[in-house]
Amino acid sequence: MSQAKAPVQVSAPGKALLCGEYAVLAGAPAIVTAIDVRAIAAPACGGEIPSVVVRAARDQVAAYLASRSLPSPGPAPEIDTGPFAPGGRKLGLGSSAAVAATVVGYHLAEAGLDLAAPAVIADAHALARAAHRDAQGGGSGADVAAAVLGGTLRFVDGQATPLPHPAWLAIAFVDAGAPAITASFVRMVQAAAGPHPAAYRQAMATLRAASERFLEAFTQPIEGPGDVDRAYAAIVQAVAAHNEGLGELQRISGAPILTPTITTVIDAAARMGLAAKPSGAGGGDLVVVFGRTHAELDRLADHLLRTHGLATLAHLKAAAPGLRSEPRAPLCSRLAGFFRLGVEARRDALAAESGIVRDAFAVLDPGSLAVEQADGLIENVIGTLDLPFAVATNFRINGKDYLVPMCVEEASVVAAASNAAKMVRAGGGFVAHSDPPWMIAQVQLCREDGEGLEVSAAITAISEARAALLALATSVHPRLIARGGGPRDLEVRRLADDMIAVHVIVDCRDAMGANLLNTIAETLAPRLAALSGWSAGLRILSNLADHRRAHVRARIPPEALAGPTWEGTDAVAGIVSASRFAELDPYRAATHNKGIMNGVDAVVLATGNDWRAIEAGAHAYAAADGQYRPLAIWRRGADGWLEGQITAPMAIGMVGGATHVHPVARLAIDLLGCQSSAELGQVIAAVGLASNLAALRALATEGIQRGHMSLHARTLAVGAGATGDEVEILAARLIESGEIKHERAVTILHEIRSDAACR
Ligand code: MEV
Repeated sequence: MSQAKAPVQVSAPGKALLCGEYAVLAGAPAIVTAIDVRAIAAPACGGEIPSVVVRAARDQVAAYLASRSLPSPGPAPEIDTGPFAPGGRKLGLGSSAAVAATVVGYHLAEAGLDLAAPAVIADAHALARAAHRDAQGGGSGADVAAAVLGGTLRFVDGQATPLPHPAWLAIAFVDAGAPAITASFVRMVQAAAGPHPAAYRQAMATLRAASERFLEAFTQPIEGPGDVDRAYAAIVQAVAAHNEGLGELQRISGAPILTPTITTVIDAAARMGLAAKPSGAGGGDLVVVFGRTHAELDRLADHLLRTHGLATLAHLKAAAPGLRSEPRAPLCSRLAGFFRLGVEARRDALAAESGIVRDAFAVLDPGSLAVEQADGLIENVIGTLDLPFAVATNFRINGKDYLVPMCVEEASVVAAASNAAKMVRAGGGFVAHSDPPWMIAQVQLCREDGEGLEVSAAITAISEARAALLALATSVHPRLIARGGGPRDLEVRRLADDMIAVHVIVDCRDAMGANLLNTIAETLAPRLAALSGWSAGLRILSNLADHRRAHVRARIPPEALAGPTWEGTDAVAGIVSASRFAELDPYRAATHNKGIMNGVDAVVLATGNDWRAIEAGAHAYAAADGQYRPLAIWRRGADGWLEGQITAPMAIGMVGGATHVHPVARLAIDLLGCQSSAELGQVIAAVGLASNLAALRALATEGIQRGHMSLHARTLAVGAGATGDEVEILAARLIESGEIKHERAVTILHEIRSDAACR
């Protein structure tokens, strides 16, 4: 075995079962896929008591190393399984198997073994399997196989065989709401075999046959026309049979496997010609949906959210890599004392934490946008405007940490967002999901002088040409189609007897989409005019991006909201009342939303996105039902925790435009480490929710001025020329003086410096 340098850390993915649940325990084949949420093992800082799984895994490796006369393992590592339980709620992705795998991998790597070597991985698999069995008892072992081997696996009788993941099959996961207790479901089902032997045998036979059918379709070679249709039809049938088998097990065991939520997803999928089934034991957790294209799955996701409030978790990607060494520690956004550092030291800290080379931060120095460059961007240029570029800390979203770049001139916005993110972190962090990246291209049609068809006939003519119009729209942007985007739907809206708006809904993927939407609108306009006999008017995107929203939730324990002179429970009551105020009164809602946009705009600007588009979309969405309403609302949960949520349109991009070309925006995107525009939208909405929380907490307790004043004092201190430690000393003395003004700051700074010179 080759020797490798001990890695900084090791990670392993989660898992989802695609077929074979329950039947796998009776020797039937299952398909398990590794999901790209990762448990990460890194050296422990001390003080943590290792869990049962961690201890079992370390014991297994210790015996293995001893048998090879290799050095004993060091202290157990610290394991971060944040992405397995966003907001503190487990999704059922097999975190304990991933923990066993990472601990084994960590100690093997620590002993100098190379996790890239197949023989080491094979040993790691055996050790993790044994450890998991020691710690957890039974189980098929499919979860451990996925965590160690990764990819997609056929799993039967404890043996895992890699399977190519079919390119033609699209998969998505829907959050069915509640974590299932797999072991107790399995016990209930097994106990039912005694009193109902025939029915149990029948249900297991159904499940086994369904699983075999699924496996056959999943692995069917696609060679000629019609093969995909045949394979997909077989998957739909296999999934239906599987759900029948589960229904039978539920009937005889009483285990609530197919909950009403799961049944809702299955039925909705079936109505759209898609196949859905619980992934795992059922009873909650995840539902896996199969389709031929992501566009089909997006349609279902849109329907499930709008009609049933159920979220599709697009960030759960199948066939992830297995156990591996990671080149560096994951980013941690808890940078204690970051605000006390000087600018250069802050850049050092960010470079160390993010892995971005230190020199890259030089683009933040004044003059990164030369006047000549600016002159090329817009007209009549006479200079540039600098704005502070800062970084908010403490953000954790879906179990992943983010350092968030923010560009804003208002004191306290960044500090407030960072503070609020820390409070949310105490409750497990933000939980987020997104709509598909669908935007609207609008074409206005006007009937002049009674020409053309009567309005209803015009709408019918356009609606009947839907397929041809969508085909035309599809031909406009072959590169968008190649990236998986493209037109998704066409809507015709009657605005008046002589005015129609035609909407083309377009999946823009990671682009903001303005240019491509406008081209589509311009291309379709003459055809629409010809179909109706009306005149085409405006052809432009809509900034009311209500198909492309980010949804973020947060839960905060009351103690995290307590302050020097108030209890956390009082803060909860005050924030809930403040929310109600905004829900009832548009005058308050405007200010409430302004506080949200403090955070939103700052990130949008830092990442080079169009903040006017985001502003327009946010306010139009806030007034969508005729009354201007708050974008974020707050409630007291049954357990007394504060619960907040925000939904906001997020027409932002990660490709094209300034995000791509402006060096500062590029740095901002690198620092965030977002993989998609949807993920970036979730971060932006989370910062909006955090900004709102900070404002409401202050307003509902001590009032906004006190906190503002201390930050304003710091701004004045810097403005007066204070540097390093002088800033805090001067700010404190300014507040003490009760005169928070520039002239006073200059005088006090002079005094501080004279005192220092005399010492
Ligand atoms: C100030 O920039 C923002 C606030 O007015 C927001 C609010 O009132 O919720 C403090």
